[in-house]
Amino acid sequence: MNTAQKINTAVFPVAGLGTRFLPATKAAPKEMLPVVDKPLIQYAVEEAYAAGIRHMVFVTGRSKRAIEDHFDTAYELESELAAAHKSELLALVQSVQPADMICSYVRQHRSLGLGHAVLCAERLVGAEPFAVLLADDLMTGLPGGPGVLSQMVDAFEKMGRSMLAVQEVPLDQVSRYGIVAGEPAGKRLIRLEKMVEKPAPEVAPSRMAVAGRYILTPRVFQEIRNQPTGVGGEIQLTDAISRLLAHEAVYAFEYEGKRYDCGSKEGFLQATVELALVHPQIGDGFRDYLRTLQL
Ligand code: UTP
Repeated sequence: MNTAQKINTAVFPVAGLGTRFLPATKAAPKEMLPVVDKPLIQYAVEEAYAAGIRHMVFVTGRSKRAIEDHFDTAYELESELAAAHKSELLALVQSVQPADMICSYVRQHRSLGLGHAVLCAERLVGAEPFAVLLADDLMTGLPGGPGVLSQMVDAFEKMGRSMLAVQEVPLDQVSRYGIVAGEPAGKRLIRLEKMVEKPAPEVAPSRMAVAGRYILTPRVFQEIRNQPTGVGGEIQLTDAISRLLAHEAVYAFEYEGKRYDCGSKEGFLQATVELALVHPQIGDGFRDYLRTLQL
């Protein structure tokens, strides 16, 4: 079957409290924490842009204004750089918002869960399939290969169904993630049968863990709207996707690449070290520095 519509819109839920990163996230958004020289949210937006998406919808909350400013024109900075003929820096600043990219913002007034955050974007998305990117999962494709969302958009164009990015994790880590179970359904695809949130290793149906990239059909909005409040008083996206399964096929997509859980301190530091090592300007010097450490 090939009924897929083009994915035009990416939703970035950035209204979480970021409690695992306090006090850094007391007044500043977690998504603005820089990995080497770019904030987390910029990595995610660039991944969506590279996948052909041009409309970026940010679901923001209190203390998240810095995200809007980051994707806006910085008149003072830009005119000072222009006046000082610092054209490379000016181009770098302006490259954050390419001319053909449109950013929209909607507020989630209370942190009522990821499902609720996605529902806040409904009017801006409209009745078409869309991508969801959790910027605190920093995802990299294989070196020189397509980004994770680009891989998913390709798969979506063939299947026309909702899909979740998954990755195999060690058994002792399954209790940190949503874990999926289903039948193999072609290259890198699993037809989803069920999804369990943070299972104990003894009862986990597989070791396939959901990462923060989704392509969802608009029916998911209806499922979120109609679902009762889930674990922790929050409206969970996982629950809505499980309900979607009763009406539509949903696939898990085993991507090629790597995920860094930058919502946790360990994942954030791993991303920082690994991305610094491959950074064109500082990579070699940083590698030399690491070699001098007595570990
Ligand atoms: P997390 O579970 O990482 O929650 O949310 P969090 O609040 O950001 O961080 P911790 O756990 O307190 O440290 C996953 C994603 O969903 C968004 C978050 O911004 C993050 O990108 N989210 C979560 C919302 O936008 N709204 C919510 O109500 C909850």
